[in-house]
Order: sequence, then C-alpha cells, then structure tokens
Amino acid sequence: MEFFDCVCRRVSVRQYKDQEIDRELLERLVDAGRRAPTARAKEPWEFVAITDKGVLKKISCVAENGKFIENAAAAIVIFCAPTKYYLEDGCSATENILLAATDAGVGACWIAGDKKEYAKVIAVLLNAPAGLALVSIISLGVPKSIKDQVKKRSLEQVLHWENFL
Ligand SMILES: Cc1cc2nc3c(=O)[nH]c(=O)nc-3n(C[C@H](O)[C@H](O)[C@H](O)COP(=O)(O)O)c2cc1C
Repeated sequence: MEFFDCVCRRVSVRQYKDQEIDRELLERLVDAGRRAPTARAKEPWEFVAITDKGVLKKISCVAENGKFIENAAAAIVIFCAPTKYYLEDGCSATENILLAATDAGVGACWIAGDKKEYAKVIAVLLNAPAGLALVSIISLGVPKSIKDQVKKRSLEQVLHWENFL
C-alpha cells in the first residue's frame, strides 16, 4: 500500500472476525514497532504478543475502554523502561504498529495503558519485570467491516504557516 494511503486508511477497528492472525504477521508488526524513533536511541520498549484467548479475556475485564479486546485475534502490549522519554518512545512504536497493521489489512485499536489504574494489574498478569511501565495495548484482528476514517479537523484548521498569525 502506498504510504500516504495507509496513513489515510488507518482507523481504530474494534470489531473483528473470528479469524486468527499468523505468528509471522505479528512478528512483522513488532518489527515495525521496534524501528520507531526513540529518544537518545534508548529503545526502552518491550513487546508482548498475545494470542491466548484466556489472557485477552482477562485484559478485557480490567481495561474499561477495551472490552472489545475479548474478541480480538491477538494483542501487542507495549511496555517501556522508565527512561526520560519512555512515553514518547512507546507511543511512536505504537503508531508504527498501527500503520503496519493497516498496511497488512489487519484491524487494530490503541487501548490506553499509561496513566490507567489497570496498568499494574496487566503488568502482573503478563509477568512484566519490575519497573516496566505499560504504555499501550493494541488489539488486532481481521476487521468485520471496512470503516471510513472518523472526521478529523481539516488541514486548514491545524496547519499554521510560519506562526499563528
Ligand atoms: C493514547 C490513546 C489512548 C487510546 N485509548 C483508547 C481506549 O482505551 N479505547 C479505545 O477504544 N480507543 C482508544 N484510543 C483510540 C481513539 O479513541 C481513536 O484513535 C480516536 O477516536 C480517533 O479515531 P481513529 O483512530 O479511528 O482515527 C486511544 C488512542 C490514543 C492515541
């Protein structure tokens, strides 16, 4: 897929077909994530790829805005070591994965991790080493339907040439 087309097609997909995603594709998505920009080249990230339905169900029980993960084929959970820019780094990896998923025809949705009460519960559930912070959870699956992008603020509204005047 042409890159800008991929950017324009990326939407949050929360409904999935009952269809698996193969391991090679999950590896490819994490490979896209690990290639993201990272402050001071720290690469503080760790990625947990989950296909176990029981674990997805457990995550759905605690992630209040991510109930739909129960019906996902898989998830990639991003943790970061507590570097100065861990959140920016984890988010840039997250977006790389979302775009790579779109490119591969896989539906994905970013589920909040950082700042959430359930972050510690998920860290324990996934046996994360002490000190790692949950940044995001990405649910993945074959989309039930193709969605249009949600209405975004227009380019004219958000682009300011040279300054705000
Ligand atoms: C930091 C962050 C946290 C998010 N958390 C959730 C979430 O917990 N549950 C959810 O359904 N969507 C979540 N989203 C997805 C947004 O709701 C979505 O990106 C937004 O509605 C715009 O829609 P789009 O992704 O289709 O363009 C999150 C997105 C970001 C960037």
